[in-house]
Amino acid sequence: MKVLITGGCGFIGSHTCVELQNAGFDVVIADDLSNSKAEVVDRIEQITNKRPEFIKANLSDKEECKKVFEACGKDIVGVINFAAFKAVGESMTKPIEYYKNNLGILLNVLDNMRQYGVSYFVQSSSCTVYGEPDSLPIKETSPVKDATSPYGHTKQIAEQMLGFITSASDIKAIALRYFNPIGAHESALIGELPNGVPNNLLPFITQTAAGIRKELRVFGNDYPTPDGTCIRDYIHVVDLAKAHVVAMKRMIEHKNKKDLEFFNIGTGHGYSVLQIINSFEKTTGEKLNWSFADRRAGDIIQIWADTTFAKEELGWQAKEDIDSMTLSAWKWQQRLDEKK
Ligand code: UD1
Repeated sequence: MKVLITGGCGFIGSHTCVELQNAGFDVVIADDLSNSKAEVVDRIEQITNKRPEFIKANLSDKEECKKVFEACGKDIVGVINFAAFKAVGESMTKPIEYYKNNLGILLNVLDNMRQYGVSYFVQSSSCTVYGEPDSLPIKETSPVKDATSPYGHTKQIAEQMLGFITSASDIKAIALRYFNPIGAHESALIGELPNGVPNNLLPFITQTAAGIRKELRVFGNDYPTPDGTCIRDYIHVVDLAKAHVVAMKRMIEHKNKKDLEFFNIGTGHGYSVLQIINSFEKTTGEKLNWSFADRRAGDIIQIWADTTFAKEELGWQAKEDIDSMTLSAWKWQQRLDEKK
C-alpha cells in the first residue's frame, strides 16, 4: 500500500517515511524543498534499503498539487500532511503567507483526494491548539483556546475544516496533536535541519554545544514551576513518526470510531528547560554555555499530555526517554558538523 507524504523531506516527515517503509508501506514524497534538502531521500533509502518516490512540488499551487495526484493519485490509500510553514514568530509578521500556504495546501490536497477517491488523511496538528491549559495533564476533550499566533491558528482552522469536510465526504481523518518533537533517528542520517538561527530549544542547545552559537538563553526563570523555567512534553521524533503509521493503519483497517479523530501525541511527562539542559550535559558529557534571559513573548508556562486516549484507542505509546532524545539530537548535530 502506498501513502503520499507531503513535506516528507522535513524533520517529522522524513522520520515518518522511514517508519512507514519499515512497516511495509510504499511512500511517495511531495516536497518543495523550501525548508529541507533533496538528499534526505538518499538518507531514507540508506536507512530502509528502499527508495521512496520523490516529486518536487509546491502543493499550495493548485496546478502543482494536481500534477502530484496525476502521478500517484490512483495508487495511494492515504495522505499524511506535513507540508506547512512552522515558525511561530515568523507567522506573526507574515500571517497572510501562513494562512495561504498552510490552508491552501490542505484544501488542494483534500480536493484532489476527493477527486481521486483517496480516503485516509493524517494531519499534523499541535498541542498549541490548547493554549495555556486550565488543568494538567491535558486531554483531547480540553477546550481549544483562542490562538496566539497565525501558525497556531492555521492548526486550529485545519482541524475545524477537517470536521466539516470529513462529514460531507468519504474522507476519514486523524489529527495528531504533537507535543514537542525532538531527537533524531539512531543512525544520525536524518534529523532536524533548522534554517538560520534556531527558534526551538533542542537545535539551539546542540548548536551551542557545537560552538555555532555562543550561548543558550533560557527564557524566564520566574515561572510558577518547580525550577522557574517552562515545562513541555518532549517526544522523540521516532516515537512520533510511529504514531503516524498506527493512525494510517487504524483508518485502513476501519478501526476509527469517528470520521475525524484527535489524539495527543506526547509522553505524558513534563520537563523543564533546566531539566533538558541537565539531561543533555549528562548524556553527552558536554558543558553547555547558558544563562537566564527575559521571558519570551507568547510562551505558555507548562503543558504535558494526557496520553490515555492514544494508549487505549491507538495502542500507541512513546517508548524513548528524555536522555535518548537529547543524546540522539547531539549525535545528529555531530554528524552535521562532520559533513562541513
Ligand atoms: C513551539 C510551538 C509549537 C510548535 C513548536 C515547534 C507554541 C505555544 N508552541 O513550541 O506549536 O510545534 O514550537 O515549532 O507556539 N527556550 C529557551 N531558549 C531557547 C529556545 C527555547 O529557553 O533558545 C524554551 C522556551 O521558552 C520553551 C521551551 O524552551 O519554554 C521550548 O521552546 P520551543 O522549542 O521553541 O518550543 P515551544 O515554544 O514549546
